[in-house]
Amino acid sequence: MKRIGVFTSGGDSPGMNACIRAVVRASIYHNVEIFGIKRGYNGMINGEIFQMESTSVSNIIQKGGTILKSARSKEFLTKEGRKKAYEQLQKHGIEGLVAIGGNGTFTGASIFYEEYGIPILGAPGTIDNDLYGTDYTIGYDTAVNTALDAIDKIRDTADSHERLFFVEVMGRDSGYIAIPCAIGGGAEVAMIPEQLTSIESVIESLSVGRNRFKTSFVIVIAEGEKEGNSTIIARKVAEALPNMDMRVTILGHVQRGGSPTASDRMLASQLGIACVEGLINGRANEMAGIINSELTFTPFIDTITKKKVINPTYTRMVSILSV
Ligand code: F6P
Repeated sequence: MKRIGVFTSGGDSPGMNACIRAVVRASIYHNVEIFGIKRGYNGMINGEIFQMESTSVSNIIQKGGTILKSARSKEFLTKEGRKKAYEQLQKHGIEGLVAIGGNGTFTGASIFYEEYGIPILGAPGTIDNDLYGTDYTIGYDTAVNTALDAIDKIRDTADSHERLFFVEVMGRDSGYIAIPCAIGGGAEVAMIPEQLTSIESVIESLSVGRNRFKTSFVIVIAEGEKEGNSTIIARKVAEALPNMDMRVTILGHVQRGGSPTASDRMLASQLGIACVEGLINGRANEMAGIINSELTFTPFIDTITKKKVINPTYTRMVSILSV
């Protein structure tokens, strides 16, 4: 392995820069030339490929976003797009790739590997923490802390005005962000796609709380919640409890930015090095992750198709703690 390419793809996450830095520095450490690919698979297709040096990644470990930019490429979903990408890699003599991203990124990587045999290893970069094959994804810890900080602030105003707040956090198909926000933010209810929480049970919890003289409430809703989004849920609850003053706050993309926490920087650095050393040692078509403090490599196909389960006792914890 003489030349490796690195790119970020899909939704950005805090710590992607720390991971790029680790990939660049580990490659140079092992005397491998390292090339950055801009704008994910789109940049691969369009030949936005440039050589990186150690100084290319100076002063970025603390920065959110990704210096390589990111995209969700439609063209790479096509055979013609992947062919163009392969030709660009050939042109630049790139023999292996490190993909930093989530589900969609690894689906693309897996198909590309099957078609062209270019070894690719993945580092899990997504705030959603929904990837099988790692306990935590890069950016998750930062996103949770950002959301929690916002919820703390919402609690102040909820308390002052004696209101109910529905706070929607990110997580397309997953409640991983919602759960620690609900437990750490002292919420009354957590609504996540993995576990059904009926509107009736939400109304019941609020009524019980009111009977116990609680005056303010926070309900954390994961974006992917099956009962509907936070606005729909709030409307249904308002119909049943018309005297309750309520507001909806959607935290949205604020959760995707910001300086990565210490644990995200550590994780990103460890997995970036692991990907480079994995490629050098002949690994391919896998995602690097940490499970029970051990470095592991999981086939892309498993990271895409297998579901990482959320401990069902977490929602019970929310109920116990909000008594
Ligand atoms: O995958 C990360 C994520 O932030 C999800 O939580 C969210 O559903 C999605 O990306 C939003 O994507 P976009 O930035 O394209 O709107």
